[in-house]
Formats: sequence, C-alpha cells, structure tokens
Amino acid sequence: MATLKDRFGRPLQDLRISVIDRCNFRCTYCMPREVFGKDHVFMPKDELLSFEEIERLATIFSELGVKKIRLTGGEPLLRRDLPILINKLSRISGIEDLALTTNASLLTKMADDLKEAGLNRVNVSLDALDPALFQSITDSSATSRQILNGIDEAKKVGLGIKVNMVLKKGMNEEEIIPMAKYFKDKGITLRFIEFMDVGKSNGWDYSQVISKHEILEMLGNHFKLEAVEPEYIGEVAKKYRYVGTNTKIGIISSVSEPFCSSCTRARIAADGMMYNCLFAEKGIDFKAKLRSGQTKAEIKSAITNIWQQRNDRYSTERTQQTAKQKNKIEMSYIGG
Ligand code: GTP
Ligand code: 5AD
Ligand code: SF4
Ligand code: SF4
Repeated sequence: MATLKDRFGRPLQDLRISVIDRCNFRCTYCMPREVFGKDHVFMPKDELLSFEEIERLATIFSELGVKKIRLTGGEPLLRRDLPILINKLSRISGIEDLALTTNASLLTKMADDLKEAGLNRVNVSLDALDPALFQSITDSSATSRQILNGIDEAKKVGLGIKVNMVLKKGMNEEEIIPMAKYFKDKGITLRFIEFMDVGKSNGWDYSQVISKHEILEMLGNHFKLEAVEPEYIGEVAKKYRYVGTNTKIGIISSVSEPFCSSCTRARIAADGMMYNCLFAEKGIDFKAKLRSGQTKAEIKSAITNIWQQRNDRYSTERTQQTAKQKNKIEMSYIGG
C-alpha cells in the first residue's frame, strides 16, 4: 500500500482518540469552573463511541498507516472499563505504540490493569509539586502526592512515563526548577509545554506564554544541558539531556517554534468527530458513518479523502488575531 499523504506530504501515522470529555479536575487553563461548572453539558453516554466502534475505526486507521495510538480525554481513566478498550487496541496489527495521557489521579489503582491490558506508556500532566499551588491550578481536592504516587506505581508496573508540565506566566514559573530537580532524580523525562491558545475559554494571550528560549535560560542557571536528537520523526518535544546522565527533558514549543511541518496526527473526539488539527473548527462525523452501516471500504475511502485534502498548519500561521477570533474547540473535547 502506498503511504497516504496530505497536501504537504505529511503521512498519516498517529491517531489520538479522546474517550471522554469529562475530567475530575478543573485546571484553570483548560476547564475553568466558570465555563465548566454545574450547568455545563457534557456528552451523553450514547453519544460516546462504543469500544467496538473505536476498535473498528482504529483498525481502519492502522490499515491506512497509523502506527501509534494515544488515548486522551478529558480524563481517560474516568471512562468505565478502559482496560477493555486498551486490550482491544493492543491486538490491532501494525500498532507499535499504545499510550495514554492522564492527570494520574486514578493511576495508583489502575496502573497494573492498564499495563496488563497492553498499554505501553503514560504521559502524566503535572504542573506543580507545591501542594497548595497544585490544588489551586487543578481546582480540585486531589493532591500532588497522589499524582507522584501514581507515577511511582506506573514505573513499578513497567509502564513508560513522561511528565507534562504546562507553563503559564504568573501561574507556575517558580515550580520549573523544583520539578526539574525532582524528575531528574527520578530519571523521568519532564516536558515543559508552552501555553497554547486551544479552545475559546482559557483566556489565552501571547503575554502569558513562557517561551522555549526563556525556559532554557532558567534551566541553564541550574543545570548543564545538551541537545539530543529526536527519538522519532515528528516528535513534538525538542529534547535535551542533563550532561553526564541519561535523563532528558523536553520542550514543546507549539507557539514559539511550531512543528506543523512534521505533523502526522489525526484526532478522533469522544463523539466520533475526526479532526485534522488540534485547532480545527470543523470535524467530520464518523459516528454517523459507523451507525448508518457504512462498510469498511466506505469509511476507509472517507478517511483517505480527508487526509489527502488536509492542509492544516494552524500553529505555523498563528497570529494574535487568529488566536482570539477562531471558533476553536475545547482541549477537554478534542484531547490535546
Ligand atoms: P509522545 O508520544 O509521548 O511524544 O506524546 P505527545 O507529546 O504527542 O502527547 P501528549 O498528549 O503528551 O501531549 C503533550 C503536549 O503536546 C500537549 O500540550 C498537547 O496538546 C501537545 N500536542 C500534541 N500533539 C500536538 C499537535 O499536533 N499540535 C500541537 N500544537 N500540540 C500538540
Ligand atoms: N496549552 C498547552 N497544553 C495544554 N494542556 C491542556 N491545555 C493546554 C494548553 N492550553 C495539556 C495538558 C495535558 C496535555 C494533553 O495538554 O496539561 O498534559
Ligand atoms: Fe483535566 Fe487535563 Fe484539562 Fe486539567 S488539563 S482539566 S487534568 S483534561
Ligand atoms: Fe498539527 Fe495542527 Fe498542531 Fe500544527 S497546530 S502540529 S497541524 S495539530
């Protein structure tokens, strides 16, 4: 089979599948409680793709070239019986990497089942070690200790782990060095993420972004780092190693140094909408296709056409104007 490529020659290689739009945290930069409060309407259960439907789609995507699947949310561990889905996906031939992005609040009790089901690795979101700051950022009663225990448990059962730290000016810059020290000692890769203008409710402004350049400058005052090659083509993080160790850090610089030219990711939201870009305004409804009885060949040809026409490169074209005006979908819905 010839490789399926989009209009910029980018192959379809990764699939991010959101399994739920709910989360037990209300991170101020993602699901601010003023917007995602008691009155917020989440997806009704029957609107979510079933595990069988997700498996069907993932199988077709793998036949079109996808090698890597990442499950996201909301908080994916809130989806009932998630290990059953993981087990189904882990059996699809051609899937070389099966990963999950989680806030880890439920990881201590679930790590073993996830590993057993066939999950390879987890990316854990953690923006602060300081207990009070952690609670104020996540607007939850969970503790940073709970997340750290989840990370330890994931390590213990043999899951690969990386930690994601979103940085926002005035929110958590004082946590950069303590987090770097903690995860350096643990030998776990910590990735710093530039705050992005996802969705339309997080009040993003350029002035709140801590750039890759600034992050490297802060780290440079405490550690000696050397740049290392990407681990795979299209990796979103630029990687550095603490000199004299095997431990790395990463910086995900979607704002100051966009990586659209190597973006090989398709996204499926929990209700079966497919999106070509994290910042897309429109998706294509694959739940409707699945539930109206379309054949595998019809669905495959729909995905092929969508990918061949894909010309998204939002971050490369971002301006202060587009960041504020576009009718973008929320992070908790599309899954990051
Ligand atoms: P790895 O496979 O471990 O490299 O994971 P990942 O970095 O692709 O996924 P993860 O869910 O951990 O995302 C980390 C950060 O990168 C999040 O803030 C995502 O929103 C962001 N990210 C992932 N893919 C893209 C992308 O295609 N475009 C943009 N702009 N950001 C992305
Ligand atoms: N900018 C950058 N990263 C974000 N995340 C959530 N919202 C944003 C944003 N506005 C991160 C989460 C998680 C990953 C999927 O995306 O913290 O680690
Ligand atoms: Fe939940 Fe992750 Fe969004 Fe925080 S960033 S509210 S943990 S989905
Ligand atoms: Fe891919 Fe869109 Fe992110 Fe660019 S902004 S890397 S096209 S998802």
